[in-house]
Amino acid sequence: METIRTIAWMKEASRKARGEGRIVGLVPTMGALHEGHLSLVRRAQQECSPVTVSIFVNPTQFGPKEDLAKYPRTWEADLQKLEALGVDSVFAPEPSEIYPGGFRTTVHVEGLSERLEGRSRPGHFRGVSTVVLKLLEIVQPHMAYFGRKDAQQARILQQMAADLNLDSEIIVCPIVREPDGLALSSRNAYLKPEERRAAAVLHRALDAARTEMAAGARDALQVQTVMRRVLDAEPLASTDYAELVDAETLEPVTRISRPCYALLAVFFGGTRLLDNMLITPQESGELRFDL
Ligand code: PAJ
Repeated sequence: METIRTIAWMKEASRKARGEGRIVGLVPTMGALHEGHLSLVRRAQQECSPVTVSIFVNPTQFGPKEDLAKYPRTWEADLQKLEALGVDSVFAPEPSEIYPGGFRTTVHVEGLSERLEGRSRPGHFRGVSTVVLKLLEIVQPHMAYFGRKDAQQARILQQMAADLNLDSEIIVCPIVREPDGLALSSRNAYLKPEERRAAAVLHRALDAARTEMAAGARDALQVQTVMRRVLDAEPLASTDYAELVDAETLEPVTRISRPCYALLAVFFGGTRLLDNMLITPQESGELRFDL
């Protein structure tokens, strides 16, 4: 496994692979790798060779009061995990390589970036879109893999790829969860033991919403009320949002008649966790639930 530090070297390695007719895959990450990240790597390896994993804690997607400095960095363990999977290369540039002095250009996906996560974290998605566009330009992958855990991020990146006619296909993969239903996240490491126990409420809230809809509920407010009730019953949880939104526009829905997401963002102490469920109406009139 090669560790690549410079843009020039990464571009050259990818250019060579593409020239040989190989299918190049990219898995962008910020490191602190867990099974969620590794599931993306395995999926990429089924469809691509070579597979590059980027590890870059992107400063521009953190707000001034956010956790950039204390974001978990587990470089040695990350390399071991990727080596064990047989990943071809790790692209791990320094911030100054990605953002040299005088850097001025950013990408903003209008309309999808301001709501939900964007409202609580102004500028966050501008940072994400910009760095992912740069990574796609540098690695030139045929396919790039993202998790549905960050559903808004994945939707924004798909829109960016379409709007800018990028050659890379954005592939969105399922959420990997702990046995109690908590979605794996690098930020779970911040939770105190009692907060970690309480955090299972995210999955319970989605599960309660699923039960309500499976019993016939199609009114978004009714379903949101059920999620709120479950979240409010957990004293250590403080809800930022619990919404049903259209899967394409991310606008709030009133009735469930098209694909939509139940999206949650909840604080446990200072740690903000996300979760979601994709709800897809079937021809039979029943709903399909992806948790
Ligand atoms: P990071 O939080 O490291 O996540 C990297 C990828 O792993 C993202 O696509 C995320 O959705 C996915 N992921 C995280 N937890 C997951 C889980 N439990 N199941 C499935 N997939 C999961 O997201 C970022 O980094 C950054 O914003 C990035 C896209 C790399 C840009 O800097």
